[in-house]
Amino acid sequence: MFRDVSACNTYNYGDALYWDARYIQEANCGSFDWYQRYSALRPFIRKYISPNSRVLMVGCGNAVISEDMVKDGFEDIMNIDISSVAIEMMRKKHEHISLRSYPDMQMDVRDMSLFPDDSFDSIIDKGTLDSLMCGTDAPISASQMLGEVSRLLKPGGVYMLITYGDPTVRMPHINRPVYNWKIELYIIPRPGFQRPSGPTSLKSLLEPVPITEKGLLPADYVLEDPDSHFIYVCRKIDEPIDLSDKSASPLTDDAIQR
Ligand SMILES: C[S@@+](CC[C@H](N)C(=O)[O-])C[C@H]1O[C@@H](n2cnc3c(N)ncnc32)[C@H](O)[C@@H]1O
Repeated sequence: MFRDVSACNTYNYGDALYWDARYIQEANCGSFDWYQRYSALRPFIRKYISPNSRVLMVGCGNAVISEDMVKDGFEDIMNIDISSVAIEMMRKKHEHISLRSYPDMQMDVRDMSLFPDDSFDSIIDKGTLDSLMCGTDAPISASQMLGEVSRLLKPGGVYMLITYGDPTVRMPHINRPVYNWKIELYIIPRPGFQRPSGPTSLKSLLEPVPITEKGLLPADYVLEDPDSHFIYVCRKIDEPIDLSDKSASPLTDDAIQR
């Protein structure tokens, strides 16, 4: 569940064959949730995503978050992953469950053309953009994926990105005028982190972290846990945008390489 510190030492995380092999190898280890479990994410998910809304879980792996959400009242969650092995595992797990909430489908997030525009109220991504960012052609893959995410979101819909990537490495990709997203940021400690002065209150975790005009953390912001996880809540704004205004784009060639 913790951040894999070897992340990005290899291009493998962007490769379907890598994930197929990994899921086969770990077939007897049961389900695995990267970064955070639903119990820790629930306050954020409940704050932004209604249980009767249509949710897409991109890069679901064999995590239990979708099942936990269904147990918590969510009615319509579509799981997709590039790994046919992960999807087969999910289908087996769900075959005895008579809820309509568990369709599982093999799909590449960079091409979700099977779904029409404005198909989902919310899209949840826990570790999938991160995987693409470790692959070859990372900036291109990220922009293909995020373009598809933006296309599939209904106006007013929310893309919730749960990642180890801080704003310096994620904002250049998500904070682009072409997506027209209003972004809020939350920071949560990794599971098991012991704060020297006692646990952080849920109320303070549920306050969005201030971000500068460029989408960065204020210079004096101190991360209590250096391995914190970041939750970017990106709401698709239903207003026309002026894409000719280049000054509105923080995405420079230098930034997109990260
Ligand atoms: C870090 S794991 C996270 C799994 C799960 N979301 C979780 O929270 O435990 C990344 C997942 O993204 C999937 N993935 C990687 N590239 C993908 C792509 N292009 N399209 C769809 N899924 C992809 C992998 O197969 C893997 O299951």
